[in-house]
Amino acid sequence: MTAHEELGRVLFTSRRIARRVQQLGAEITRDHQGRDLVLVGVLKGAAAFTVDLARAVDLPVVMDWAAVSTYGRGSAPGTPRLLKDVDEDLAGRDVLVVEDILDTGTTLSWLMDRLRERSPASVNCCVLLRKPHALVEPVRPRYVGFDLTQHWVAGYGIDYAERHRNLGDIHEVLLPSAALPASS
Ligand code: IMP
Ligand code: MG
Repeated sequence: MTAHEELGRVLFTSRRIARRVQQLGAEITRDHQGRDLVLVGVLKGAAAFTVDLARAVDLPVVMDWAAVSTYGRGSAPGTPRLLKDVDEDLAGRDVLVVEDILDTGTTLSWLMDRLRERSPASVNCCVLLRKPHALVEPVRPRYVGFDLTQHWVAGYGIDYAERHRNLGDIHEVLLPSAALPASS
C-alpha cells in the first residue's frame, strides 16, 4: 500500500485548524489570567496540538506530558495504564489536559481522575476533536476544537497505525470498519 492510499478526503485543513487553535488559545488566556496554568499534553496524538496551543496562549504557561495506554496488549479494553507520568508538581495549580480526540472518554476520565489525586486547584480538558455519539464516560471538556461524526481520522499528530502524524491536514481514514483498530 502506498503512503496515502488509506486516506480519504481532508476533513479539517491545516488553515482551519490553525484558526481554531488561535481562538482556543485566546479563550484559555482570558480564562486563566493570574492563574498558574499547566498544560498536560497526552502523547503521542496530542503532541502537535499541544505545542501549537501553548504558543497561542499569552500567559507564562508550563507544558508537561503524560502517556496513557487504553487498550494495551493483554489488558482488557477500558483498563487504562499510565505509560508516562507528568513531571510537574500539580498541587495548587490549574491543570488543563490537552487531548487529540474524545471518543468514549475512557482515556480522559481515567487520566483526569489520576491527576485530581495530586491536589491541583482545578483539572479541565481541551480536546481538538470530539466524537459526540461515542461518549460513554462523563467527560465534559471545557474547550472543544471541532465535533466529528466520521469514524476514524489521521493527520496533525493523529495516527492510523502510527502513520500520518506528520500531515498538516486531518484526513478521514478509508479502511472498512472491520479493519479499524481499537483506540490507543
Ligand atoms: P477514548 O478513550 O475512547 O475516548 O479514546 C480516545 C483515544 O482514542 C484518543 O486519544 C485517540 O488516541 C484514539 N482515537 C479515537 N478516535 C480516533 C481516530 O479517529 N483516529 C485516531 N485515533 C483515535
Ligand atoms: Mg490518544
